[in-house]
Amino acid sequence: MKNIAILTSGGDAPGMNACLEAATYCACRNKITVIGIEDGYEGLLTGKFRELETKDVWRIKNRGGSILGSGRSKEFTTEEGKKQAVARLKKEKINGLIVVGGDGSLRGAHELNELGIAVIGLPGTIDNDLSGTDYCIGFPTAISVVTNVLENIRNTAEASHIAYIIYTMGGAKSGQIALRGAIAGRADCLLVPENPLSDKRILEKIEIGLKRKHKSHIIVMAEAYVEKDLSKVEKLIKKMEKYSGIKKIRTQDVGYLQRGSDPVEQDIYNSLCMGFGAVKYLLAGEQDKMLGLVGNDYRLTPLTQVSYQGISQADMELAENLGLF
Ligand code: F6P
Repeated sequence: MKNIAILTSGGDAPGMNACLEAATYCACRNKITVIGIEDGYEGLLTGKFRELETKDVWRIKNRGGSILGSGRSKEFTTEEGKKQAVARLKKEKINGLIVVGGDGSLRGAHELNELGIAVIGLPGTIDNDLSGTDYCIGFPTAISVVTNVLENIRNTAEASHIAYIIYTMGGAKSGQIALRGAIAGRADCLLVPENPLSDKRILEKIEIGLKRKHKSHIIVMAEAYVEKDLSKVEKLIKKMEKYSGIKKIRTQDVGYLQRGSDPVEQDIYNSLCMGFGAVKYLLAGEQDKMLGLVGNDYRLTPLTQVSYQGISQADMELAENLGLF
């Protein structure tokens, strides 16, 4: 293998740049040419290729986002699109590819492998919702942002007697970031699709807080809980005002701040290990696999076995026992 390519796909995640830095350093050391593909699968289809040298990736590991750009491509999901992508890679004599992305991106990676390109996938999504790995690139940073926001909001909420609803990003199905952020940031109530609370229960929890003379009430709500229907939030606010008598209720969307932050140390380190590992395994002849972190070991899992994975039972129990539901 003489030429390999790398792309970042789907929503960008803090740590993607560290993957690019380590993969480029490792490939260059092994005298392999690395082609960076811009803007995910879309750039693969349109031929947005550029060679990466160590000078291009030097010290990018601490920066959020992806220097290559990331994105989603409808065209790539078609049969024609995938054939076009493979033709582009073959024309450039690229026979190894590293894809950093979430479940949809890794499905695409497997399909490319089926069409003759050796692919190693890396779990790059703040949503942390993939099987085959205990860690997804960007998740620790996203939780750290939510935790910081909650701590800051708590200060002002305590001083000004305000109830807050914090809206977190984190995928269409799982409330994973909301749960871990709510635990670390000491929220009072957690709304996730895995355990939707009734309005009655939410009001009961506020009532308990009021009886204990709490000055602030912080509810963390997952993106997947509202399912893109923000009128649900407005209705809840009206009920809170009516039944709990709280005058000031505010909302705070943490959203893209979670994704755009510079990576925390854990994301930098793990992503460097994964970027390096992806090149190492490609050169060793591995393909059609995702490199994940299982316990303390980096392990390969066939891409066909990588699927969506929601909040663990243990985390749900922890949230329950901490009184978040
Ligand atoms: O999958 C990553 C993610 O950031 C999710 O957390 C979120 O649901 C989605 O992407 C947002 O997508 P977009 O960038 O298209 O708004």
